Amino acid sequence: MAAAFLNTGGYALVFLLAILVPHVQANVAVFDNYWTQRQGDALKQTIASYDPNPLNVTDHLNYHVALAVDATESTNNTRRELIGRKTQEGSGKCIAHNPIDKCWRCDPNWEKNRKKLAECVLGFGRKTTGGKDGPIYVVNDSSDDDLVNPKPGTLRHAVTRDGPLWIIFANSMVIKLQQELMITSNKTIDGRGAKVYIMEGVGLTLQFVNNVIINNIYVKHIIPGNGGLIRDSEEHVGLRTKSDGDGISLFGATNVWIDHVSMTRCTDGMIDAIEGSTAVTISNSHFTDHQEVMLFGAKDEHVIDKNMQITVAFNHFGKRLEQRMPRCRFGTIHVVNNDYTHWEMYAIGGNMNPTIISQGNRFIAPPNEQAKEVTKREYTSYTDWKSWNWQSEGDYFLNGAYFVQSGRPNAWSPKPKNPVPSKFAIRPKPGTMVRELTMDAGALGCEAECIYNEQFQIIIIFIRIHYISSCPMCFLPLILNQNRNSCFLCRSNCH
Ligand SMILES: *[C@@H]1O[C@H](CO)[C@@H](O)[C@H](O)[C@H]1NC(C)=O
Ligand SMILES: *[C@@H]1O[C@H](CO)[C@@H](O)[C@H](O)[C@H]1NC(C)=O
Ligand SMILES: *[C@@H]1O[C@H](CO)[C@@H](O)[C@H](O)[C@H]1NC(C)=O
Ligand SMILES: *[C@@H]1O[C@H](CO)[C@@H](O)[C@H](O)[C@H]1NC(C)=O
Repeated sequence: MAAAFLNTGGYALVFLLAILVPHVQANVAVFDNYWTQRQGDALKQTIASYDPNPLNVTDHLNYHVALAVDATESTNNTRRELIGRKTQEGSGKCIAHNPIDKCWRCDPNWEKNRKKLAECVLGFGRKTTGGKDGPIYVVNDSSDDDLVNPKPGTLRHAVTRDGPLWIIFANSMVIKLQQELMITSNKTIDGRGAKVYIMEGVGLTLQFVNNVIINNIYVKHIIPGNGGLIRDSEEHVGLRTKSDGDGISLFGATNVWIDHVSMTRCTDGMIDAIEGSTAVTISNSHFTDHQEVMLFGAKDEHVIDKNMQITVAFNHFGKRLEQRMPRCRFGTIHVVNNDYTHWEMYAIGGNMNPTIISQGNRFIAPPNEQAKEVTKREYTSYTDWKSWNWQSEGDYFLNGAYFVQSGRPNAWSPKPKNPVPSKFAIRPKPGTMVRELTMDAGALGCEAECIYNEQFQIIIIFIRIHYISSCPMCFLPLILNQNRNSCFLCRSNCH
């Protein structure tokens, strides 16, 4: 471990030297003391967040998938009901298919136990807790008019506060961001119980921050921002350059979990993780209509990205996507149990010797005979890339899709210092199960428990009659549920 640490320390040194060269730095127009401090802290976090035993992390995830699948199978639900359609709202039955969802989704009190979510992350981002240690902040205002002194109740006000916050939404809303949303450390953006669309404006930026969860929102039609003066924390306002138009942009961000996000059409990348970003999990998300989906590592000279470790799990890469799912430089990327139903050029690619562990995905190739290969090595000759560790295990290939492997199996962790506990040494669930594991990818239509007061009694009784007639399964919980401040079981599920 000491050797690994020294090694990454070496990259850090190179990186430190690199940043002394004055050039545009990560959209910060004025790199003042404040940003120098934040960058220094982030760099330490990058090095501290690197896991010297990645095999342990990948096997741990696969072990939990196996447990979740076995549990789903043993509940004796008719399998026909599970396959081929989303878990139906109003059916009275909640079925979560993968271990992340199983951890919280079928709890009828999920809304009261929102912070339970923070215990559900798996993969390289597994230490992310977001705003778990802080109070709940309710966003009740969709405007974004003041970038320097955001109004209390807006999302921009929430994410720029000091200290941990668990941010939720009073109701469904469309938020058009005027400029990049500068999210600070120790935050959770929890869109469950509302439909929250971040759209037709600028995207989300996580720059030199640690510990952020983004859950259950829509990010659509994102455009570049012109920059200018933007608040980036309670005590600091900074001048920023033009942004690229990424949906979610991670610069030197560590311990980040992006889950159940639906993304469509951004100008640049959908999710970019660059310049020392690591300990990231992207799960249960749904992507459509985009050219360059995910970029992990932006430049060949950013050797700090050797510390990058990212898990991409249970996502659905859907219609009209072209390439980069993801495209990687350096780092170790675990791509597991995702459903790739569309790509136009390739699915997974990169250069600069990244390690790619592809396990139990489903790859459906496009009709184009030239685009059947899942993988793409960019700007590198065979003699160089033949030793890169790009391995496929349990993937399911359809329509002529094929993965060109290189390197050696398990080479990403040749001699773990502490061997993986034997119970975790389990094979990934195969790509044939992916359709089920990713069935609910994207933002969920969670309904928050309805809290009502005396005036609304009559309305509620009406709704109840409607529910009893449309949903006989809900009848029993209705009778049992005598607590006026709680709602019917079938409405508080998170489907
Ligand atoms: C599932 O159903 C089968 C056959 O009806 C039964 O033998 C088995 O015990 C059931 N398993 C569980 C976990 O209920
Ligand atoms: C919205 O939230 C802010 C901040 O918590 C609060 O000051 C304000 O009163 C709220 N507005 C409404 C209409 O609830
Ligand atoms: C985030 O929370 C951790 C744990 O409470 C704390 O050590 C750290 O300083 C916080 N980060 C920031 C930037 O406030
Ligand atoms: C491997 O993972 C297990 C379970 O999460 C943990 O208890 C153990 O400490 C890890 N070992 C190493 C070397 O990281």
